Amino acid sequence: MTEGVSIMKDSQPKTIYLKDYQVPDYLVDATDLHFELEPKATLVKSRLNIRRNPQAGAGLPPLVLDGVELELLSVSLDGVLLSTSDYQVLPEGLSIPVEKPEFLLEIRNRINPEENTSLEGLYLSNGMYCTQCEAEGFRKITFYPDRPDVMSKFTTTIVAPMDHPVLLSNGNEVERGRYEDGRQFVTWEDPFAKPAYLFALVGGDLEHVEDSFTTASGRKVKLQIFTEAKNIGKCDHAMRSLKNAMRWDEETYGKEYDLDIFMIVAVDHFNMGAMENKGLNIFNSACVLASPETATDSAFQRIESIVGHEYFHNWSGNRVTCRDWFQLSLKEGFTVFRDAEFSADLNSRAVKRIEDVSLLRTTQFAEDAGPMAHPIRPDSYIEISNFYTLTIYEKGAEVVRMIHTLLGAEGFRKGSDLYFQQHDGCAVTCEDFVKAMEDANKVELKQFRNWYSQAGTPILDVTDSFNETDGTYSLTIRQSCPSSPGQEEKLPFHLPIRIGLLGADGAELVLNEQGDTETVLQLTEDEQSFEFSGLAEKPLPSLLRGFSAPVKIRYNYSNEQLQFLMRKDKDTFNRWDASQRLALNALCELQVAFRKGEELQVQPSLISAFKEVLEDVDLDLALVAEILQLPSEQFIAEESSSIDAEAIIVAREFVKKVIAGELFDEFRKRYLELNTTKPYSPNALDIAQRRLKNTCLSYICITETEEALDIAQVQFESASNMTDSAAALAVIINHAPEDRAGGLIEQFYERWKTDTQVVELWLGQQSCSPKRGTLENIRALMDHPAFEMKNPNKVRSVIGGFANRNFKQFHKSDGSGFEFVADQVLALDKLNPQISARLVIPITRWKKYSGSLGEKMKVALQRVADSGDLSKDLFEVVSKSLI
Ligand code: PHE
Ligand code: ZN
Repeated sequence: MTEGVSIMKDSQPKTIYLKDYQVPDYLVDATDLHFELEPKATLVKSRLNIRRNPQAGAGLPPLVLDGVELELLSVSLDGVLLSTSDYQVLPEGLSIPVEKPEFLLEIRNRINPEENTSLEGLYLSNGMYCTQCEAEGFRKITFYPDRPDVMSKFTTTIVAPMDHPVLLSNGNEVERGRYEDGRQFVTWEDPFAKPAYLFALVGGDLEHVEDSFTTASGRKVKLQIFTEAKNIGKCDHAMRSLKNAMRWDEETYGKEYDLDIFMIVAVDHFNMGAMENKGLNIFNSACVLASPETATDSAFQRIESIVGHEYFHNWSGNRVTCRDWFQLSLKEGFTVFRDAEFSADLNSRAVKRIEDVSLLRTTQFAEDAGPMAHPIRPDSYIEISNFYTLTIYEKGAEVVRMIHTLLGAEGFRKGSDLYFQQHDGCAVTCEDFVKAMEDANKVELKQFRNWYSQAGTPILDVTDSFNETDGTYSLTIRQSCPSSPGQEEKLPFHLPIRIGLLGADGAELVLNEQGDTETVLQLTEDEQSFEFSGLAEKPLPSLLRGFSAPVKIRYNYSNEQLQFLMRKDKDTFNRWDASQRLALNALCELQVAFRKGEELQVQPSLISAFKEVLEDVDLDLALVAEILQLPSEQFIAEESSSIDAEAIIVAREFVKKVIAGELFDEFRKRYLELNTTKPYSPNALDIAQRRLKNTCLSYICITETEEALDIAQVQFESASNMTDSAAALAVIINHAPEDRAGGLIEQFYERWKTDTQVVELWLGQQSCSPKRGTLENIRALMDHPAFEMKNPNKVRSVIGGFANRNFKQFHKSDGSGFEFVADQVLALDKLNPQISARLVIPITRWKKYSGSLGEKMKVALQRVADSGDLSKDLFEVVSKSLI
């Protein structure tokens, strides 16, 4: 291939800064793409109508296009073929001198989808062609100004042999035909201008299910979900979720869908959950395919929320997009907030909130306290893929939620209406979003903007006092925020604190003259006091109801007061939170006792609190199930100033065993009551029932008695849905002796080995198991035919499960867990840098560990750093973590 010029990757990673943002020099009014699909040599032809950006100033600078790992074949300008000396090939692109303010640029290049294991750009998954362009994947398809503020109207023609009959792209199909050589072609036209990151193409031998949705204004939209033939029976739930999402966005935000067709495609090889390409969403199979026999309740719920999430992006992301990637949370934080409200409206609001806050408080708080901490609008990055983080997504959603809390539902809707109206068809900033919220409500959110520019989790220290003589109760709240990389000092945040006050009988006290029993305090100062008068007695405060701000709150509750809140608080979230605090207190005491070599003891009051909840038949099942979960090791670790992994493991195992032993009969009784055989439905009530039942099963099995394991085995053998069979499998993996477990684990695999999603679950359960997920077994799983290093889901199940969810084996005191992760990270970096850079994270938090464990972790991380030739992605994470 002598006519081609290969472009190598830049070897010197460089930092990109928000402050350096400049508008694009050139705009692309129309993009006409032509693909001839071939596994090793796909030909890409592009015709770009380019025009000097009037906002970019005078003169005609050279046109600089992005391009990575492309084989360039030819460049023509206004129909004239350029010679290689007419332009300059850059390490990651092309620079072309320009003489006219408007011209037609035509480029031909070749790419190799089969060798593309990074899963960015155009690649093959089980023989199906598909693309992933966000954030900067389009430059792996062809030379282009690959930045979100260049928006263009795309036309796409796909040519392929007949064994790939389904050829899809964004927008509407406008033409199709056959060539004499037997190949067929299809042309798609997307009427909406969009940035290249929303481009998508699919080509394969796929089946589809079809449905339709009539919008509020009466337009009929065709809905299609495409999968491999074997999965065609697993699309119903996603289709139902899609229609629910379309209706919800009309009702909640007044937003309709805008094309005549909406397509979803399931692919097995995908770096993330799913992607909102205009009119053609591409999904990780695990986030779209489900049937009662093969998917757990949490998979059903995940699918509903991700289908919603991607659909909602059509407005928050596509119609209004991001100016640059520093604004990522503009679309992601807002869209996560939207999908969370969607799920809350369709299911149990309280459970959804508890789940989201658990994730935030363990994983996002850890990120906020770690070496990669960044504000929801970062001010610099080396590789943007590293910034698809819990901070951008989940904390970003919390920031939007706080605006919602401050403005109220109606005010927020006014703000979102104005935002969509003002910026439709534009690429904008977080600032534009906040400004629209301010303008629509005639309020000022100046100080609130600190949430966008400052990293770290604020800490609120709360004290109170009561004046007996005049009945005045005062709450004093002090805020602080630990320093984070590049940010020593922090300015105070503006945050909403929803509170209530409880009287001695648990009644909600009146807080003001309007008679409210709940109010939102607005904290803006470093320290602020709030007074409530006319109270007969000192109340018990219920603070930060519904987790109204993403902070750590400290108030010196006694264990009795926490139990009181567990019983009486009218805020469901805080009832659950009180139970977590109570358990956390016990776990802390046990860690101390363990370190001192003292005898371990669980306070009888904790056991009686659990017993009371377990036997309370009036309490919402979902809440009982949540309260009975002990804080995870990861959460306990996050709450510790210095992590003592061994003490955490010992303390938690001890509490679980004591509770299980003391309350065995109660757990078994509740289990049997809940163990009904009604047909499966993923509705909130049934999900709660199964969750509580399976929680009881897991407690009774902690005792590892024959009797308990027999119950588990009966459930394993008779379950009619995956939620129940997976729960039984989990306890068998974790508690049954080898002679019993080995055969059942094998039996499960034989039954399900042709179902990719079930196999992923099976791999994940073993690698997360403190008992079975030993390094030796993890290595065996990696040799199992079900494992594939090039498939991110498999890697996440086995290696990710071990590193992130198998606290015990990963933290083995000899450091072998860390060395193993380092080895795998290095191997993966050659295949898929996005995945290696994520997988390394568990070994980057070495500073938080006490004793020699942190040292061992650092050694493993240093070895990764020293091995040289790292991808940009991995280089950024590793180098920032060793500072
Ligand atoms: N934009 C996608 C989402 O949040 C996530 C994604 C990012 C997918 C990058 C692939 C690559 O919905
Ligand atoms: Zn998103």
